[in-house]
Amino acid sequence: MIDGKKVMLSGMQSTGMITLGNYLGALKNWVHFGDDEDIKCFYGIMDLHSITVRQDPKELRANAKRLMLLYIAAGLDPEKNCLFFQSHVPAHPQLAWILNCYTYMGEMNRMTQFKDKSAKHADNINTGLFTYPVLMAADILLYQADLVPVGKDQIQHLEITRDIATRFNSIYGDVFTIPEGYVGESGAKIMSLQDPTKKMSKSDENPNASIFLLDDKDTIMRKFKRAVTDSEGCIAYRDEQPGVKNLIDIYNAVTGKSVVETLKEFEGMGYGALKERVGETVAAELEPLQARYKELEGNKDYIERIMKDNAAQASYYAEKTLRKVKKKVGFIEMPR
Ligand code: TRP
Repeated sequence: MIDGKKVMLSGMQSTGMITLGNYLGALKNWVHFGDDEDIKCFYGIMDLHSITVRQDPKELRANAKRLMLLYIAAGLDPEKNCLFFQSHVPAHPQLAWILNCYTYMGEMNRMTQFKDKSAKHADNINTGLFTYPVLMAADILLYQADLVPVGKDQIQHLEITRDIATRFNSIYGDVFTIPEGYVGESGAKIMSLQDPTKKMSKSDENPNASIFLLDDKDTIMRKFKRAVTDSEGCIAYRDEQPGVKNLIDIYNAVTGKSVVETLKEFEGMGYGALKERVGETVAAELEPLQARYKELEGNKDYIERIMKDNAAQASYYAEKTLRKVKKKVGFIEMPR
């Protein structure tokens, strides 16, 4: 709780260019939380997590900055919500270190994302990748978050966060709020346009597989035109037609319509027309976001002020928790 409000925290890694999947599955939903006066929201740009996979420094910087502008352009008001870079708040790695000492090797070994990522980056299985979930636990626990909206792939990390917090509390008393995960509507899981059995991903090698948030209208239309469907030739919402189902999911996530409504609307339509309709809808959704992004790009002073103010605000709350933790563990307080 902060000022009698519930606390919500979420974030994304600043790796690559975020996709329509990240937007519909996370960002667009976050905006609704920001409208709720009874919830205090923190949104991190998790750049410390990004370096668990080797990054080009120039690209990392550009991606992180772009993500901040996209957060704002998508509708997260930086005057009402706290949008911060993880690397600007030293309390994150400090708490992560302490929590490392309350987390077991066996627990980290069970993490499926670690297994997946070490298979993918076999030449760089670093200990940061191994303890990634502990840093994530620190992100969440520092702000005493009540609510953490995450994708399905992050549920395991949230569970371990709760385990670590509960363990710490059982030794030292009530230090951390135990956070609840919040998984958005299942309809918001967006699949690849080229292989609709796979999640739409930032890092897909096939650029036609993903819509990126800054794609222009022509690119969006072309990618949808090339989207893989099937040879049934009939618009239905079922697992046997994953391509068509994905197009409907995308349409519904953007418009807020239900499957029944959409099927009625699309009745008798061919796949070509379906793809065009979905493409147009997505392009229209992203257009105002892209216009705001361009505006923000030209407004360096404003962005710098936001970065400074919000890092200071995040640090204020994070330091408060960290001080408490240090005291409980038995570190000597710095004389004032
Ligand atoms: N691991 C998350 C992801 O890849 C990003 C993340 C880092 C996060 N710290 C977090 C999400 C804290 C929610 C809360 O999606």
